[in-house]
Amino acid sequence: SPSDPDLVERARAAKEKLGDKVFVLGHHYQRDEVIQFADVTGDSFKLARDAAARPEAEYIVFCGVHFMAESADILTSDDQKVVLPDLAAGCSMADMATAEQVAECWDVLTEAGIAEQVVPVSYMNSSADIKAFTGRHGGTICTSSNAKRALEWAFQQGEKVLFLPDQHLGRNTAVRDMGMSLDDCVVYNPHRPNGGLTAEELRAAKMILWRGHCSVHGRFNLDSVNEVRERIPGVNVLVHPECRHEVVTAADYVGSTEYIIKTLEAAPAGSKWAIGTELNLVRRLANRFAPEGKDVVFLDRTVCFCSTMNRIDLPHLVWALESLAEGNVVNRIQVDKETEEYAKLALERMLALP
Ligand code: 13P
Ligand code: SF4
Repeated sequence: SPSDPDLVERARAAKEKLGDKVFVLGHHYQRDEVIQFADVTGDSFKLARDAAARPEAEYIVFCGVHFMAESADILTSDDQKVVLPDLAAGCSMADMATAEQVAECWDVLTEAGIAEQVVPVSYMNSSADIKAFTGRHGGTICTSSNAKRALEWAFQQGEKVLFLPDQHLGRNTAVRDMGMSLDDCVVYNPHRPNGGLTAEELRAAKMILWRGHCSVHGRFNLDSVNEVRERIPGVNVLVHPECRHEVVTAADYVGSTEYIIKTLEAAPAGSKWAIGTELNLVRRLANRFAPEGKDVVFLDRTVCFCSTMNRIDLPHLVWALESLAEGNVVNRIQVDKETEEYAKLALERMLALP
């Protein structure tokens, strides 16, 4: 069993043996059994920064998903080894934009005569290839905690933004935070010729949104919000910006996982909260804040865990740590040199955002 006391003891022993040689990062969506061994927890922005700030650690064990481990590899030095305890921990959203599809999209924008005006802004939740494309074309990466600043920066560099791969974060940031209208946005569908758009539509748009979404957050809908407001009078609805626009519009507060935690920390006793994000985090927050008299519930009980985040479990973590303790580097995530060079450019533009 994952909470097997023997496994807990083995993880502790392997970590102790490794000492300062290992640094364990844990994303907020990780299981409790894993998060207890994280040296630092955070949202994807904080974890990227923390990985870069640990030059003395020979091994970075990334408890999160593949694109996060890639980003950590890009931001750390060549002799630091980034390990993802289960290689099947991908992200369905990141998989929705491939290098070939994005190159084809750029050809479509070139044909429409607008490529020179377009600045790519790619969500952290994308492969290293997409980050490299972004760097090559003068763009930046963003996370859910700095998307507004990334868009402000991008609109200083050009007239239009190609936002990859999460249409919801792109639309929500443009409309909710930047005062654009829904009509300023078009959706590029990589499965249709020319993205399903005419050259006129592309020329008229300010935001070209890639047709990608998060399979977890995409399942919250307006009914989820209406139902919880009816069931819990006075409830505050707090959601992640990967949720659909209708959900974000109906919510009271919107922000990254780190923002969600900070908001609950600052909330008064007696307040009630419905949270629209991944279930491991919501459960942990419900347990943490119950003794303080803050009532935290899941926005929609029919939505479940992020299955790929959940791939990292205690048995996989123990295996990774014990292997490293024996000098055996398993599941190393290593981005090739050329991809790394341009992906790093895009990531560093993000880290330099005001
Ligand atoms: P943040 O932790 O940056 O809010 O991202 C959420 C997410 O979906 C990560 O996969
Ligand atoms: Fe990807 Fe969504 Fe899971 Fe985050 S929660 S890793 S965006 S599938």
